[in-house]
Amino acid sequence: MTPLTLQEFTALVSSFQDEAGAAIDGADSAESLEATRTKYLGRAHGWLKDISAKLAQLDKGDRAAAGRLFNDARLAVEAAMESRQGALAPARAGITLADPTMPARRAWKGAVHPVTAVIDEMIEIFRELGFTVALGPEAESSWYNFGSLNFPADHPAMDLHDTLYISDDLLLRTHTSPVQTRTLQGYAPPIRVLIPGNVHRRDPFDASHAPTFAQVEGLVVDEGITFADLKATLTHFANRFFGSTKTRFRPSYFPFTEPSAEMDVLCGVCKGSGCSVCKQSGWIEILGSGLVHPAVLDSAGVDSEKYTGWAFGMGPGRTALARHGIPDIRILYDSDVRFLQQFAR
Ligand code: PHE
Repeated sequence: MTPLTLQEFTALVSSFQDEAGAAIDGADSAESLEATRTKYLGRAHGWLKDISAKLAQLDKGDRAAAGRLFNDARLAVEAAMESRQGALAPARAGITLADPTMPARRAWKGAVHPVTAVIDEMIEIFRELGFTVALGPEAESSWYNFGSLNFPADHPAMDLHDTLYISDDLLLRTHTSPVQTRTLQGYAPPIRVLIPGNVHRRDPFDASHAPTFAQVEGLVVDEGITFADLKATLTHFANRFFGSTKTRFRPSYFPFTEPSAEMDVLCGVCKGSGCSVCKQSGWIEILGSGLVHPAVLDSAGVDSEKYTGWAFGMGPGRTALARHGIPDIRILYDSDVRFLQQFAR
């Protein structure tokens, strides 16, 4: 191997740097710049490669200094290459300002589905009150869906006519209330949970019904919980969610709550005077609720002498319809971008 002095190597590197620099400055298109890159920096046959091969011809003691020199030159050439590339970039992308009157391209934006938005907002409001989120399975046993919730054995809801069965004992849950039992079995009071999820009923798909829809359940169990807690919490929720509004509670019936009540809020569209959204009543029904029936606590193994609680169930789909004045529930299921786009922010 012919020996090489550090001076000779230095001269080589600087002529490399000068020549490469001039070639880069002279490149007037992306193509010629690319050719320059290959010639000087190419990994396989470039100049740089040739020079690095010469490092071995140097005296051992000179190699560290030579290596530093070599690296600095390489970095400088690479940087020059990059900045030249930036300068040539607009031409390369073919962007010209020939026609500034051309309409801008439409920017498509995603949006949170209005039903998801209702659920997210509910979780946010209840989180401030100390609620966490609990989930349960959509394929559920009839004991969790009905039996544990104090449905009498011959209740019509259990009929094939109303419930979608997978097998004798397995069904698609008809409400999120079975997760009340699951939560009570899994956690000791005090309990404050919100339970969002899809439920299924054997209903026709028309303007006001869907066979699959979302529900949000709430459950509170502790010592000394009364109907006053239910009313205060749900009224607070309504005022937060709808902006200060009026609520009213009407007596109702569910096998798993006693007493039971439905909560209405003043129709946000007509403010109570009557319109098509509230079917001329001035009120919108928002949720079903009640004090947890002692039989529900007992069947989940919770001491109903010591603990009381309240629960509610609401349909965020219905709420989304009322909130936006949407006339047909099927619109929520269409995935029509023209509809969804309107909720983009
Ligand atoms: N599960 C009831 C329904 O689907 C709603 C509800 C939940 C009522 C909790 C009271 C308490 O209609």
